[in-house]
Amino acid sequence: MHYHDSISQNPSDLLSTILRGSSKRRVMGFSSGESEFIKFPKIAASIYDMMMSSEATKRQVTEIAEFLTTQLASGKLLDIGFGPGKLLVEIHRLKPTLELYGLDISSSMLAQARKNLGNIQANLYLGKIQETDFESDFFDIISCTGSFYLWNEPAIGIDEIHRLLKRGQSAYLFETYRDIDSERFESALKENLEREGFLRKRISPQFLRKQIRMTYTREEMKMIFEETMFGSSFHMQEVKIANLPIWVRIELTKTS
Ligand SMILES: C[S@@+](CC[C@H](N)C(=O)[O-])C[C@H]1O[C@@H](n2cnc3c(N)ncnc32)[C@H](O)[C@@H]1O
Repeated sequence: MHYHDSISQNPSDLLSTILRGSSKRRVMGFSSGESEFIKFPKIAASIYDMMMSSEATKRQVTEIAEFLTTQLASGKLLDIGFGPGKLLVEIHRLKPTLELYGLDISSSMLAQARKNLGNIQANLYLGKIQETDFESDFFDIISCTGSFYLWNEPAIGIDEIHRLLKRGQSAYLFETYRDIDSERFESALKENLEREGFLRKRISPQFLRKQIRMTYTREEMKMIFEETMFGSSFHMQEVKIANLPIWVRIELTKTS
């Protein structure tokens, strides 16, 4: 893990990188999307950032930030897989007393997040959650949105979260799942898209459907958490975020 500010310049076919994700089929317990993000080009990070300015995504970020900031008033918050950093910006707006930390494997996302954070003080690190240099029992809260499904060796990443959390404190993962009710999803998506412009109407659904296809089923996630230090202290709850019934919120509490 490095404290980092440099920018990745890898050239590649970006829209395909963003939309395609990994071509490898994920098998239970082993994702293959991480490597796509390690070499994510700078321009792909700006396109990702632009896609996140849709009304539905802004609402998604606000709803998640509202939830997180009601969990505690002050202390250290780590956002894993912060991407363009929008959640950190929103958390700061709602609760400026929180000390912000972020960890991401993509240097181009890190550069994009720095831009979006502007003058907001946040300690951003380049690295992966399966292997960090943070002290044990360091964080008061850990968040992670739409990143867990990409991790290689997810149980190792979850055990690292256990090491980093203070005792009695919780991490919250917000993930989409593969075994969604497609009819409910498509109808909610249609409603959301009515408020978007032409380009987002065409591209956003592809992003979302791609992400859903790559994610775990609820049962697969449950099996992963059961294998970890949170084996008897996790709680999964289906939640609607930005009107979409495709999310599960996973609360991991460090009890010992
Ligand atoms: C789909 S993006 C989500 C970004 C942001 N959280 C959001 O909600 O838009 C996934 C992010 O997770 C990061 N990531 C993937 N695997 C990771 C790992 N093992 N450790 C830390 N970050 C990781 C990627 O680089 C990427 O920025």
